[in-house]
Amino acid sequence: MTIWNLGSINADMVYGLPHLPSAGETLAALTLERFLGGKGANMSVAAARAGSRVAHVGGIGSDGRWALDRMTEYGVDTRFIAQVDVPTGHAIIAVDAEGENQIILYPGANHAIAQDQLGQALSQAVPGDLLVLQNETNAQVEAARMGRDLGLTVCYAAAPFQADAVQAVLPYLDFLILNEVEAEQLRESTGLSVSDLPVQHVLVTLGSKGARYLPKDGEVLEIPAHKVKAVDTTGAGDTFTGYVLAGMDRGLPMPQAIAQANRAAALMVTRHGTADVIPDLKEVLEARFT
Ligand code: RIB
Repeated sequence: MTIWNLGSINADMVYGLPHLPSAGETLAALTLERFLGGKGANMSVAAARAGSRVAHVGGIGSDGRWALDRMTEYGVDTRFIAQVDVPTGHAIIAVDAEGENQIILYPGANHAIAQDQLGQALSQAVPGDLLVLQNETNAQVEAARMGRDLGLTVCYAAAPFQADAVQAVLPYLDFLILNEVEAEQLRESTGLSVSDLPVQHVLVTLGSKGARYLPKDGEVLEIPAHKVKAVDTTGAGDTFTGYVLAGMDRGLPMPQAIAQANRAAALMVTRHGTADVIPDLKEVLEARFT
């Protein structure tokens, strides 16, 4: 099967800082590194590295050819990424000594994806394929609706979280992934707790504690994370999601897909960077955690 990803593509400018800046503060960075990023691209690369066939639907500007080439190199089908008349998206990412981050996003071409482009891509999908969306592109509702009509398994990674963006796609979803704080924010805006959402599979990430899986017709499961020394948490959530999707795509039982994704995310936080450093399946399976 194929994982179709309507997803963002960013140039990540990662600044290593002694601490995250506060309002009005001027702070000199200790390091600067550049990576391929964007929550969408990170998820596509993670799922491809986990062994899935992934087709990415997105946008770049005339300055973004490198990103497309790099995604191709990482095993992602980039034929449905269009070049548009807007600069490629970028992210300014501050990472502190504890590995925590702050991100400023310039959406650019990620918000210029045409309906036609989306329709052309998804016309090649077959029932049973997965479609994943995040909240960094335009056309999320159109894609979710198309995905549902085509019989795809529609997955939404609610990041960056906005309750109204989740609510807009909720009627079309088979799978929703969000963190604990976001689950509470969604409850405040919809009146529904995660276990009452009209979605077949809900996955609540618990940071260093792991993840809670709430299937519509089954038992709630908690799958613990591995303990590692984090140097940079950026992209770890996207890696987790990409690996869960790849596990679903390969027909792994959900607890096993989540356990594998936990291993991938644990490895990812020990590395500096985003899409370029996402571990492949061999590394994930061979990793030893204490
Ligand atoms: O989740 C990390 C990602 O968020 C970065 O790669 C950055 O581009 C932003 O989209």
